[in-house]
Amino acid sequence: MTTLGEALRAGTERLLAAGSETARLDAELLLAHALETDRTAVLAHPEAPLGPAQVAAYESELARRSAGEPVAYIRGLKEFYGLAFGVDARALIPRPDTELLVDLGISRAVAALTGMWRRASGPLRVVDVGTGAGAVAVAFTVTLRRRGYGRVLDVLATDASAEALALATENAVVHGAADLVRFRQADLLPADEPPFELVLANLPYVPSEEVDRLPVAASFEPRAALDGGPDGLGAIGRLLALLPSRLAEDGSAFVEIGAHQVASVERLADEMLPGWGASVHLDLGGEPRVMEARRAG
Ligand SMILES: C[S@@+](CC[C@H](N)C(=O)[O-])C[C@H]1O[C@@H](n2cnc3c(N)ncnc32)[C@H](O)[C@@H]1O
Repeated sequence: MTTLGEALRAGTERLLAAGSETARLDAELLLAHALETDRTAVLAHPEAPLGPAQVAAYESELARRSAGEPVAYIRGLKEFYGLAFGVDARALIPRPDTELLVDLGISRAVAALTGMWRRASGPLRVVDVGTGAGAVAVAFTVTLRRRGYGRVLDVLATDASAEALALATENAVVHGAADLVRFRQADLLPADEPPFELVLANLPYVPSEEVDRLPVAASFEPRAALDGGPDGLGAIGRLLALLPSRLAEDGSAFVEIGAHQVASVERLADEMLPGWGASVHLDLGGEPRVMEARRAG
């Protein structure tokens, strides 16, 4: 008879041997998932026995993780901005770094909705470009709704991938935001939408030749969610070029970038947005993470 403690030890060793840098944590999360419980319960009862079906489920998850599949895909779940998002191979797993994009979007939205300088009346027009699993749009909307701003938001979430949009819609439903977020398949921004006051975007920004050198876990994610073309800035550059016609006069755009792309993104902004103001926000690790662009003055 195997106990939880023994299963954890054996699983940790197996994942260490397979090269996981977070073997113990992975084993805890996978065992909890196999037992349909949480990590705390697993840690609290190391002497509890495992049944044959639980052993089989755990073994199968360890095999998937040993082959490099991300824990989030195996569990079908990823925490982002304090919310649990369903995740699978249809879309990129939301990264903690992207929470900065949500923070900045929320601050800007609140400033616009409470300030005197906003030109538009009616709901604030917001777009999450390349929504993937819907993390940015849903976290943004759920948070602002909790603060009482639900009725004054018009949120659009776009993606080129119909599969990603299906997952994003499921996440919006789970979090009770499906009535406030519209999902549309589009290349960046649909042509028939009026200008946006707030643009949030986490588009692919890994240079093509670096995609194959990413950790093996990334090979389970859609390539189109990572591959930003030869210099990594293909989609971002095209989005910046759209801003003069698609961003409202007093609007702001926040675009996630790679930590080493500041100089190239600033060059792009100078070229596509002459006379605008552009600044870069750092993430919690002190790395450049989000570029903000808006018209000067
Ligand atoms: C890096 S992933 C980010 C997903 C999500 N925003 C997040 O932060 O978790 C980029 C997403 O942009 C989408 N995408 C790539 N090119 C696009 C384009 N031209 N127009 C719309 N979406 C695009 C991909 O399908 C993918 O879902």
